[in-house]
Amino acid sequence: MSIDIAIAGFGTVGQGFAEMLALRQGMIREAFGTEARIVAAFDSSSAIYSEEGLDPMALVAAKAETGRVGDEPLVDGAAFLESIDYDVLVEVSPTDIVTGGAGLHHIRSALGAGRHVITVNKGPLALAFAELDTLAKENGAQMRFEGSVGGAMPIINLCRESLMGQEIGSVMGILNGTCNFILSRMDDGLPFEQALKEAQELGYAEADPGYDINGVDTACKVVILANSVFGIDCSYEDVDVTGITAISEEAVAMAAEQNYCIRLIGEISPERLEVSPRLVTKGHPLSVTGTLNVAQVNTDLAGPISISGRGAGRSETASAILSDLLAMMRSFVNNK
Ligand code: HSE
Repeated sequence: MSIDIAIAGFGTVGQGFAEMLALRQGMIREAFGTEARIVAAFDSSSAIYSEEGLDPMALVAAKAETGRVGDEPLVDGAAFLESIDYDVLVEVSPTDIVTGGAGLHHIRSALGAGRHVITVNKGPLALAFAELDTLAKENGAQMRFEGSVGGAMPIINLCRESLMGQEIGSVMGILNGTCNFILSRMDDGLPFEQALKEAQELGYAEADPGYDINGVDTACKVVILANSVFGIDCSYEDVDVTGITAISEEAVAMAAEQNYCIRLIGEISPERLEVSPRLVTKGHPLSVTGTLNVAQVNTDLAGPISISGRGAGRSETASAILSDLLAMMRSFVNNK
């Protein structure tokens, strides 16, 4: 028996995941005695399905050559998912944090049919976490989303699994690489606009960088952590959000004179959901530079625990999806 995967969205992250699955197939077979196969993939206009399984690298090559992942025209991703057989949906279509976009329909369709879901798509999670969580439970399905917050930085697993048994008082973190890159470059003396341009060139920024610099992207991640770690049923409107657009070069220079840097911090606790620029003492665990993400988890028994890693990127985000897939496969074995 194999674990059959459908991939919704075949952009950078979808392709990165296909490559990683090809790379780790031997390891998966050795660990679980079974294969994890891609049986379907679709992008915004095309789809492909084979119950025999598809060659991940051939999918990546087809996308590079033609701009499409398959030959079948795609009209409605949710309808396509309803027409095929698979075990796990990997939902990595472009994020839409206003409506949840197609990703929300795909996830509802999969969970409603009792399929497991792995997603890094922030829109559906930030808008409808409680609904999707309930839908998963009602249908005996798992929903995992490690890569949606902090990319490769395993903050959700850390809080929900490694720190099980601790009371977590708060999580404070830098959850947006674009803002951190801009603020770090401003520490080097660069003007805001030039730093933003560099961040866009590096490919970290959202399609509309306003979502990064106005704090919206960080707020979505705050909502995902609040729901998944603290069990707070909240959405974007519940977060007090201030971005970094009002941070002047003078403010950055004045902070530096006092041995501080300015960082955009997301704070999650039962009392406070906030995104705001704050002064951080240089050398503090939260004073990371460049596109790094970082989080400090404040626990009752173990005190503060900090974790840092790359918040975005092709293989980095795909590594979080792989980790979710392997955790799911382990649970299938344990529940047999
Ligand atoms: N725009 C986001 C960032 C991408 O800069 O962190 C990862 O969610």
